[in-house]
Amino acid sequence: MRKTVNILIGLFLIVLSGSIWAAPSVIIIETQNIGLVYKTKDNGRLYQSYLGQKFQNREEYNRLPTEASEAYIPSGTTNLFEPAIQMLHNDGNPSLDLIFTKSETTSVDENITSTTIWLKDPVYPVEVALHFWAYRNEDIIKTWTEITHHEKNPVLLSRFASSVIHVSSTQYWLSQFHGDWASEVRMEENKLTSGIKVIDSKLGTRENMYQTPMFFLSCDKLSDEVSGELIAGTLAWSGNFQLLFEVDKNNSLRIISGMNPFASEYKLKPDEKLITPEFIFTYSNNGRGDVSRNFHRWARNYGILDGTQPRMTLLNNWEATGFNFDEKKLTSMFADAANLGVDLFLLDDGWFANKYQRNDDESGLGDWQENKEKLPSGLGYLVKEAKKQGVKFGIWIEPEMVNPKSELYEKHPDWILKLPNRDETYFRHQLVLDLTNPEVQDFVFGIVDGIMIKNSGVAYIKWDCNRMITSGYSPYLGDNQSHLYINYVRAFYSVMERIRQKYPHLPIMLCSGGGGRTDYGALKYFTEFWPSDNTDPLERIYIQWGYSYFFPAFAVCSHVTSWGDQYLKYKIDVAMMGKMGFDIDLDKLTERDRNFAVDAVRQYDQIKDVIWSGDLYRLVSPYHENRAVLMYVDDQKSNAVVFSYTTYRRYKEEFPRVRLQGLSPEKAYRVDEIDLYPGTQSKLEGNGQVFSGDYLMQKGLRIDPKGAMNSKVFTLTQINN
Ligand code: GLA
Repeated sequence: MRKTVNILIGLFLIVLSGSIWAAPSVIIIETQNIGLVYKTKDNGRLYQSYLGQKFQNREEYNRLPTEASEAYIPSGTTNLFEPAIQMLHNDGNPSLDLIFTKSETTSVDENITSTTIWLKDPVYPVEVALHFWAYRNEDIIKTWTEITHHEKNPVLLSRFASSVIHVSSTQYWLSQFHGDWASEVRMEENKLTSGIKVIDSKLGTRENMYQTPMFFLSCDKLSDEVSGELIAGTLAWSGNFQLLFEVDKNNSLRIISGMNPFASEYKLKPDEKLITPEFIFTYSNNGRGDVSRNFHRWARNYGILDGTQPRMTLLNNWEATGFNFDEKKLTSMFADAANLGVDLFLLDDGWFANKYQRNDDESGLGDWQENKEKLPSGLGYLVKEAKKQGVKFGIWIEPEMVNPKSELYEKHPDWILKLPNRDETYFRHQLVLDLTNPEVQDFVFGIVDGIMIKNSGVAYIKWDCNRMITSGYSPYLGDNQSHLYINYVRAFYSVMERIRQKYPHLPIMLCSGGGGRTDYGALKYFTEFWPSDNTDPLERIYIQWGYSYFFPAFAVCSHVTSWGDQYLKYKIDVAMMGKMGFDIDLDKLTERDRNFAVDAVRQYDQIKDVIWSGDLYRLVSPYHENRAVLMYVDDQKSNAVVFSYTTYRRYKEEFPRVRLQGLSPEKAYRVDEIDLYPGTQSKLEGNGQVFSGDYLMQKGLRIDPKGAMNSKVFTLTQINN
């Protein structure tokens, strides 16, 4: 009986939508430079027929052939390759067919155009809406999918991609970013071969560690900074993700992105909407410099909280003191921060817990009261003291976690993710709280709220998340364990949503045991992120370089620490290419180094606007030469800052000249090396001289003098003539 009804509904839908697909529709999504086109075929299905440089004449999109590239590939009917969506219906039917019903394009504002395309199953009451926001000026497209149905009982979804992109080329080169703790975002580039390549993670609380949800896909040949056709994409999701690349028998490529379906079958209730994470991508046929600048502009305007506002420089105490500090030490560090000239002092781990003191990472996590021995006068006193000394005060928390040695663990065993009938499994001696439980969400919100209410003046938070989920089981989710990974991230976002309603502009650093959370899903709520616990400047060159492909400099926290045996100047120069901070015991520096650091902060204050809001040009990659050279140029092309770091040097090695980029050829610029160590002279070619932008871009400068491990920072200032 139910089958007959379904078939009748299906026939009705076919008749209803038949009139729509009789004339194939062409749906055009455009930014300033990119065109993405969908077309229907006579069979009523929707196909992607173009992604590339926008056509000059829109009419010509009508001439595009429709290839066999279904826009959102359903499973269980005719498809033989990796599907985007897989669904089990109430009657046990495991198939889906998706037919175009309508599309709508509206202007969100002057810059953003929203396009929604609705698809329906002709037999079952299932609807899929494909959403696209095209950011004109930034050349970014953000896309996501909403899945809903009106069957009587929940349907079972085992795949739920955010997006499918079809590419057609002779060769495909994938640039991916992999790593581990303290070795984040190592770039690896390979030609894709037939079959499937998957980049994914199954970490639960974070997306990044072994693999990072960002990639370049170069067409025909491997792109470089200034040439080559490529797509750059990233998934805005702070949990398990999957990026899947399938090269088929015709050498066509599909990129399917979304939440990782691993252990995540989703029971979608009638009328409930499954909203997938956003997949954010851009395209260029001028190389990867272009796509990075697109991402940076978009991040400033839309992707990162308060992206156009200034950030604070800071002194952190983690590397300097670890857990070992008291009020006296901290207040002396406030003075250090003030003398250094930074904006803020950031108190890290170890300030809380009493019954089980937090003197190492084995206990106390979860007990968010000031430790009475270390901080007898409380946080409020510290905030005031910092203010007195002329710096703001910020604080570290790790609110989603608990040590078994804690009062929280004793009071709320039911608030913890752990398997029944099995031993607890630890990472950094801790467990993850069950954030899917609304009571836990209240608790986590209350940690931030409590700190802010009790200690007026707290100006900054570092939000950490030091472990992934293992042996994961949610006491709250009961029979819906397969929702854990999805609901955990949703719960994290909903807590952040609440925090942002009450504290819309409080700067919060996103940290996850180094760079475990570095994604645009979370960065909507955060102002910056911690890219890695590895602060050895040599390592940081590669790490910061890797993140720079997708994230702007102001968001990448770069601290000067005691890691690495390079000179202080090298460390500071590396930190300057991002959002500079210090995490070092200044008392342990020589007076000369201390004075140099003070001077460096002053100089950074002069150039930070160009670094944070300028256009980035990566000039020499550390993956290609034994050095890295990059520059930032402001909007008016009047000011630029160039950074150069040698990473290794062979005997008698001569580095070639470097041609600068992004300048105005007609303008004249004075070259000034800055951040020189006291008592040293600049050996930079052309220092103090004026050159045309044309000369600097055509002939370039010889930047690196001979010698080992050098670093250099110089400015280009337009001269009025
Ligand atoms: C993580 C962070 C560090 C520091 C420690 C404190 O490892 O990445 O920066 O905050 O936790 O325990």
